[in-house]
Amino acid sequence: MIVLGIETSCDETGVALVDDGGRILSNMVLSQTDRHKIFGGVVPEIAARAHLDHLDTMIRAALKEAGIAMESLTAVAATCGPGLIGGVMVGMMAGKAIAAARGLPFIAVNHLEAHALTPRLVNPDLDFPYLVLLVSGGHTQILVAENVGSYRLWGTTMDDALGECFDKAAKLMGLPFPGGPHLERAAAQCRDKEGALARFPLPRPLKGQPGCDFSFSGMKTAVRTFIDRLPPGGLAPDDLAALAFSFQTAITETVADRCGRALTLFRAKYDVPKPALIACGGVAANAMLRAGLETLADRHGMRFIAPPVSLCSDNGAMIAWTGVERMKKGMTDSLSVAARPRWPLDPQAPDRKAAGT
Ligand code: KG4
Ligand code: ZN
Repeated sequence: MIVLGIETSCDETGVALVDDGGRILSNMVLSQTDRHKIFGGVVPEIAARAHLDHLDTMIRAALKEAGIAMESLTAVAATCGPGLIGGVMVGMMAGKAIAAARGLPFIAVNHLEAHALTPRLVNPDLDFPYLVLLVSGGHTQILVAENVGSYRLWGTTMDDALGECFDKAAKLMGLPFPGGPHLERAAAQCRDKEGALARFPLPRPLKGQPGCDFSFSGMKTAVRTFIDRLPPGGLAPDDLAALAFSFQTAITETVADRCGRALTLFRAKYDVPKPALIACGGVAANAMLRAGLETLADRHGMRFIAPPVSLCSDNGAMIAWTGVERMKKGMTDSLSVAARPRWPLDPQAPDRKAAGT
C-alpha cells in the first residue's frame, strides 16, 4: 500500500509518500515563514495562495523522489481540517482531483489525528490506548488515543495554545516569527539559571488545580510586565537569555503538572502492558519540554515517546500515515466530504471556542 499525503492547513505545504510498512518514501515540506514573518503571524489568504502556487510541483517532485508512478498509488489522503479554510481547500481539492482522475480511494484526514498517530509511524510497537499531549501553534490538548478514529479529550487550553504562547512571548522579547525555536535558542544561552528564575519569576498557571486543562494567556502578560519594567534600551542579551530560560522553565513545569494529573488518571483507567505518554505537534520539538515530560513519565512508570523533530511540525508524512492507518480499517471517505475549519477529535467533549478545535 502506498499513500500520497497532502498537508496545507497552515503555513507549511507538505507532500509525502508513505507505505503500509511505515517507510517514508518521500516527505517534502515547503515552509512559507519568509512570506509571513513581516506580518508577525500567518496571513490566511497569503498561505492559501502560496499552497496553490507550489502544490502541483511538489506532488510531481515527491513522486519523482520516491521513484513512484502515479499509477502505483493505493490511495490519496489530504488534510480536510481543522485549520485555515483557504489552505485546507487547496490541499483537499488537489487530493480529491487526483483520487477522482485515478479512481483511487480518498481519505479526509483530521490534522489533529495525524499528529496523534505519527508516533505509531516511527514506533510500530506502540499499541492503543496511549496518552497524547498535542501542543502546536493552534492546539493544546491532552487526549487518550483509544483507536484509529477514536479519541477522548481530557484537557484543553481555555485561551491561548502553547505554541501561540511561545510565539507571543518571543515577539515581546524581540525575536522573529515563529518565535518558539528562537526562544529555545535564546534560553540555551542562559549562564546563571538560578539567577534567571529569581530575577524573572513567572506564574505556573493552574498548577495544582484539579483537571487537566491549561491556560496560557497570563504568561504573555507576565512577560510583558517584566519587559516594561526594564530600563530604557530594553532587553540586553543576558536579560533575554534569562527571561527565555525562566519562561521555558515555567512552561515545562506547568505542562508537566497538567500531564501528571492525566498520567495518574490514565494509569487508573487503562490496564495496558506498556503504557505510554506521547508528545506531538510543533512545540514537542522543544528539548526542555521533552526532558521534563520524559522525567514525569518515568516517575509514573510510563514510556515517553515523541516523534523526531522533523515529524513534530506539520508535514505530509503524518497525513499519508494517517491515510495508511485508516485504509487498514477500511475508513475511506466520499469525494463529497466537506472541509472543516473546526473539527474536534472527540465529538463528545464540550465545545470550547478558545481551544481552536
Ligand atoms: O504543529 P505546528 O508545526 O503547526 C501548527 O499546526 O500549529 O506548530 C507550530 C508551533 C509554533 O507556534 C512554533 O513556534 C512552535 O510550534 N515551535 C516551538 C519549537 N518549534 C516549533 N515551540 C517551542 N520550542 C520549539 N523548539
Ligand atoms: Zn500541526
